[in-house]
Amino acid sequence: MGTLKSKKDERILVGYDDKDDAAVVRLSGGRLLVQTVDFFTPIDDDPYTFGQIAAANSLSDIYAMGATPLFALNIIGFPINTLPKSDLTKILQGGIDKAEEAGISIVGGHSIDDPEPKYGLVVTGEVDEDNLITNSNAQPGDKLILTKPLGTGIIATAVKRGMADKTAMAKSAQSMATLNKLAAEVMKEIGVNAATDVTGFGLLGHLSEMCEASCVSAKIDYSALPFLPSVKILAEQGTVPGGTKRNLKFVKDKVQFGEQLMDIDKILLADAQTSGGLLISLQAQKAEKYISKFNELSEIKAVIIGEIIKKAKVNIFVE
Ligand code: CO
Ligand code: CO
Ligand code: CO
Repeated sequence: MGTLKSKKDERILVGYDDKDDAAVVRLSGGRLLVQTVDFFTPIDDDPYTFGQIAAANSLSDIYAMGATPLFALNIIGFPINTLPKSDLTKILQGGIDKAEEAGISIVGGHSIDDPEPKYGLVVTGEVDEDNLITNSNAQPGDKLILTKPLGTGIIATAVKRGMADKTAMAKSAQSMATLNKLAAEVMKEIGVNAATDVTGFGLLGHLSEMCEASCVSAKIDYSALPFLPSVKILAEQGTVPGGTKRNLKFVKDKVQFGEQLMDIDKILLADAQTSGGLLISLQAQKAEKYISKFNELSEIKAVIIGEIIKKAKVNIFVE
């Protein structure tokens, strides 16, 4: 939607042009309203799990901006005449349970008859102006933290082709259904410079956007990156989503890969994620503190994956 322009509005702090996670509008008294919408087609065969993942993914953009969700609305497409209504009930229950975990209610929404099921949420949140976290303030010297492993796109494609093993499927579903709530709470507690969530554009795409918005570059340590089980083997067998290939093509010229990196490694770095973790840029001395606080409370472990450097000829160096 990059070429669409709307009229300039002084109340909009973060809008279309910022390529950030959610829209941010200034209200009176220094308070900010944060709003986002996301929906997609089933990523899991189990309707309840799909509902959980879609809701966790929709909430993620609110958390990525350091905001607190207030309420949500459902967006539903469902083939009323061909699938059992109980499937729809399970999808919605997955959403309700995740919303409850987030401390909010789903207060309405809209549904249409649709040959292919679709589900997601419009989420409204709030944040004080001082606490807003964007992708545009990463500073040279910052460490980069990633709070979930990569590879959900490759595993989803493997699931569709019947090639994924049970462990990979379960770990991927668990990761996607996990809220980025704790990741956001620890950000607030410790104080960070920038953040975004890793979703459709993959790690390289979202990091590249952060670098451009912040006028910096980044260095990634490939050996430090967390991956879901079996991801590399599955990618080698060819279960790579089209979106991942497009991501790599799009970002290639903005990345310098170390000579030891194989084509398959580059694919893994570009993998399109669903409901991925937060990518956080924070002062080096705060990084270990973040990791220990977060990992003490989370089953999925956060790791330091690299650092921010001064703006260079490319956005990202992978070593
Ligand atoms: Co996002
Ligand atoms: Co989004
Ligand atoms: Co309506």
